[in-house]
Amino acid sequence: MTAADASAADGDPLPSSSPSSSPSAGDARRLAAASLAVGDPTGWFEHLYAEARDGRAEVPWDVAAPSAHLRALDLPAGDGRRALVVGCGPGRDAEYLGALGYAVTAFDISATAIDLARARHPSSPVSYAVADLLSPPAAWRHGFDLVLESNNVQALPADIRARAIAVPGMFVAPGGLLVVLAAATSRVDSDGSGPPWPLTRAEIDGFAVDGLRPVSITQVDAAGTTLPTRWQALFTR
Ligand SMILES: C[S@@+](CC[C@H](N)C(=O)[O-])C[C@H]1O[C@@H](n2cnc3c(N)ncnc32)[C@H](O)[C@@H]1O
Repeated sequence: MTAADASAADGDPLPSSSPSSSPSAGDARRLAAASLAVGDPTGWFEHLYAEARDGRAEVPWDVAAPSAHLRALDLPAGDGRRALVVGCGPGRDAEYLGALGYAVTAFDISATAIDLARARHPSSPVSYAVADLLSPPAAWRHGFDLVLESNNVQALPADIRARAIAVPGMFVAPGGLLVVLAAATSRVDSDGSGPPWPLTRAEIDGFAVDGLRPVSITQVDAAGTTLPTRWQALFTR
């Protein structure tokens, strides 16, 4: 893991001084291209985690530290409230919310990522699960006081993105909060260089589904990276 890759974990922007072809970004893009070519837009995540487990690739976002953008929200103590972490990977943000006192469920489409999360945090109270954001358990509807979507939708291509954006808000309980953290763009077309593919304002607005309304939608400066602006968007029901 290079310094560039450690920075990449917080939204996948790479320091502007680093080559966009850093080893782990290259692994992700190689496997994403192969999956997309066979019409399987999410298959590459499992392939990447499995190759990394076997020492043949690196996962660019796999760092121990929780997201700096999540920490910057300075969330209050969880006091046992229910939190759901979407696309949790090996669990850095799930463990952070667990330490804040939330009762955390965290899921990922990659079984290898969930195995890794459990192995890394053997005595964790976090409940890790393999699940697909595009086909989630019905019992999760309106089931969580806090839902975190951080850096996942931006890793999904345009053809499934609208479907994915419509889901996290469905998990939010009355009075609950959806936190969306993502790289930002003003382009409506992709420049073809992803993943990641940063989100437009219209895409961020699209998280307000099923009675959810925005609390705040702000652009955060991520100067010095190749993706220099980010979204910090909060919604409630
Ligand atoms: C770019 S990574 C970000 C990981 C983590 N949120 C972070 O910021 O460290 C995207 C994650 O979403 C997961 N993912 C992708 N598509 C998913 C889906 N349809 N359902 C659940 N997880 C998914 C991937 O396996 C991967 O762990």
